[in-house]
Amino acid sequence: MGIIEIQDVTKVYTTKKGEVHALNHVNLTIEKGQVFGIVGYSGAGKSTLLRLINRLEKPTTGSVIVEGQDITTLKEKTLRKRRQNIGMIFQQFNLFKSKTVGDNIRYPLKLSKRYNKSEIDSRVDELLNFVGLIEKKDDYPNQLSGGQKQRIGIARALATEPDLLLCDEATSALDPETTDDILNLLKKINERLNITIVIITHEMEVVKKICDEVAVMEHGKVVEQNKVFELFTSPKHPVTKRFVHSVLNDDIPNEIKTSDRKLYRFIFSHQQILKPVLSRVGREFEVDFNILYGGITELSDRLFGNLLIEAVGSSSNINAALNQLREFNIDVREVEGFEN
Ligand SMILES: Nc1ncnc2c1ncn2[C@@H]1O[C@H](COP(=O)(O)OP(=O)(O)O)[C@@H](O)[C@H]1O
Ligand SMILES: [Mg+2]
Repeated sequence: MGIIEIQDVTKVYTTKKGEVHALNHVNLTIEKGQVFGIVGYSGAGKSTLLRLINRLEKPTTGSVIVEGQDITTLKEKTLRKRRQNIGMIFQQFNLFKSKTVGDNIRYPLKLSKRYNKSEIDSRVDELLNFVGLIEKKDDYPNQLSGGQKQRIGIARALATEPDLLLCDEATSALDPETTDDILNLLKKINERLNITIVIITHEMEVVKKICDEVAVMEHGKVVEQNKVFELFTSPKHPVTKRFVHSVLNDDIPNEIKTSDRKLYRFIFSHQQILKPVLSRVGREFEVDFNILYGGITELSDRLFGNLLIEAVGSSSNINAALNQLREFNIDVREVEGFEN
């Protein structure tokens, strides 16, 4: 059983213009200890799904089970307790502008009634040290940069020692460098504090950098779910392909497309040293392999190679050579739209 189980969940909003089906029979299991990504274009239902996990929203039908507890039916008091176990951060940070940084973090600690005065003081310092901003304790949020605000948002979300951290487009308002810093901080939180993290994003760079597993959403449905490496190397749904494509730069130049060439895509992981294998197999079977383009991408902590290769030789020799390469665990694929 996962830390989060979404079971056949539907969410319908009733508006003046009629019903909006934000979620359509969603099933999703998120395992404990992961950094789990939810990607999709705007309006796919990502934020709605996240808000169901801490019961900011109730599903219209279906159930949401968090740490073994069905939260759809919780009463106010138990719900408040449950929420202390779930931290959340937002794209716009949502800090209290009229409170100092220290008081922003103090707020959920007071509210929880679990800590006495001196415990609260030391917890605030501990959290500020953890996010590297102890010197900002008495500043106000508008004196901080975007990245610093998000660090404070994170410190506040971690205050009551949650098991789960939900992030809704938490880096979408930040520049790439600051995004990297925040993602590194989230990774540290996942690894050191053993907190399960659910990240909503429309940026594949975020997924590539820290997620272990991903669900792809479209029109209120989860259309694909997989480990990051598998999702990037074998995307199935058209939406997934578009997302993956956005970071891999694996477009085939028109000039190559129109020519009468035998083209293959070679997918391999970093353990394999491709070039010597290619030249050895090429020599053995009298086939020339020309690397047209491609490259190596870092996915989570693995490297992933994706090369477009032209094979020159007789068809039977090429087939024999490709079979040999497959034995070396190189994933050889026909390039879509080509008759090889
Ligand atoms: N409170 C609401 N009232 C009415 N419609 C809503 C509300 N929240 C979201 N929606 C609609 O539900 C759909 C999914 O929205 P959302 O979950 O915010 O998607 P995402 O986060 O993927 O952009 C959209 O069509 C959106 O307009
Ligand atoms: Mg959203």
